[in-house]
Amino acid sequence: MKVFAALIASGAAVSAAPFYGFPNPSQANVLRIQNQAGGTLPNTPLPTSLPPDAAQTLQIIAANEMFEVAYFSSLLHNVTNSVDGYTDFGGTTKEYVVESLKTILAQEELHAVGANAILASAGEKTIGACQYKFPVNDFRSAIALASTFTDLVLGTLQGAQTTFASDGVLGLVGLVGSIIGEEAEQNGAYRVIQKKTPASAPFLTASVGAFAFNAVNQKFIVPNSCQASSNISVISVPQFKTLELAHSNSSPQAKNSTLRFTTSYSQLSKSGNYVAYISGQNKPVVRPIQNVSKNGDKATFEAHFPFGAGFSKGLTIAALVKSKGPFANASSVVDDTIAGPGLIEID
Ligand SMILES: *[C@@H]1O[C@H](CO)[C@@H](O)[C@H](O)[C@H]1NC(C)=O
Ligand SMILES: *[C@@H]1O[C@H](CO)[C@@H](O)[C@H](O)[C@H]1NC(C)=O
Ligand SMILES: *[C@@H]1O[C@H](CO)[C@@H](O)[C@H](O)[C@H]1NC(C)=O
Ligand SMILES: *[C@@H]1O[C@H](CO)[C@@H](O)[C@H](O)[C@H]1NC(C)=O
Ligand SMILES: *[C@@H]1O[C@H](CO)[C@@H](O)[C@H](O)[C@H]1NC(C)=O
Repeated sequence: MKVFAALIASGAAVSAAPFYGFPNPSQANVLRIQNQAGGTLPNTPLPTSLPPDAAQTLQIIAANEMFEVAYFSSLLHNVTNSVDGYTDFGGTTKEYVVESLKTILAQEELHAVGANAILASAGEKTIGACQYKFPVNDFRSAIALASTFTDLVLGTLQGAQTTFASDGVLGLVGLVGSIIGEEAEQNGAYRVIQKKTPASAPFLTASVGAFAFNAVNQKFIVPNSCQASSNISVISVPQFKTLELAHSNSSPQAKNSTLRFTTSYSQLSKSGNYVAYISGQNKPVVRPIQNVSKNGDKATFEAHFPFGAGFSKGLTIAALVKSKGPFANASSVVDDTIAGPGLIEID
């Protein structure tokens, strides 16, 4: 339980601990989690070996689920205890929100336990928790953030399916599909709470593990809080610099516009760097950067955001890249990425 102590870094008196002995629940506690989650862990045989990229993909999934468990534990704690900012649910009742969050938390716990069970069965290192920080202080912002990281997960799991399929680990392809559906059910609710249409676009935005892990690492993991025993260090994806929308335009519209970004990559140059956008299932779109201004170890710049070039509502992923491509897909963008992922939500 020690690793979750940071969830109460805010000084709240009541611990925001996950349910029932997570991340190592006893058999009796697994039954309790399953009961809350509405279903069981799969009882089909687990793989006894995995190719390295399949193992790495599961380790990234497990690291992400560990973060999600911490996030929903904290959110459930805030709502249950009527923490300031967590008392207005936009028309629905506290009881319904608490029951929904308990179910989502239990489901995320089983996703994490399940990913680790597959890793353990295949003789690979399982993944533990770090300490996390959440840049939100009220229910609406917490739901908007949950929707954004869930969108990123929905893209990342597409990439996971491609990895498992090309590795011939076919049993995991359908399993991941079932998780995509579950996460999408969650996201429909997060969108309705924000008064958005329940489903954003016909084909959701693609992503890959390196973007998902960098997002969790940059935004949510307390720096240097992952102990060696968490095995997070076996995840060997490149560490990108950060890329975020500047505050001046944090709510971009569904139309062509110019966006201003902030990055921790301060050596960027107008001639050597570009922005690549990944939206829907389309080929990534690359645009030059302009109006670069450096300020210590940060820089800001502008780039066109050509939404009208066929972008999807929901999530668009931006990356600061070192070539103008062209890029065939999200994994080719990752190969040239210096900073990212920048997460842009439209409607
Ligand atoms: C829960 O509330 C605390 C205190 O306001 C805040 O720091 C934390 O980010 C909140 N967690 C979530 C997931 O909203
Ligand atoms: C990290 O890997 C070791 C060796 O495989 C394992 O014993 C340990 O339980 C793992 N840690 C976590 C948090 O899963
Ligand atoms: C460049 O950015 C600055 C700071 O945001 C802004 O004031 C200025 O209008 C921009 N210049 C151009 C040419 O877009
Ligand atoms: C938006 O930009 C795209 C690509 O640059 C262009 O094809 C499209 O015509 C533009 N749409 C509008 C409404 O200006
Ligand atoms: C992405 O594009 C590259 C280069 O064309 C290709 O080799 C790779 O198979 C593609 N990956 C996926 C997941 O489609």
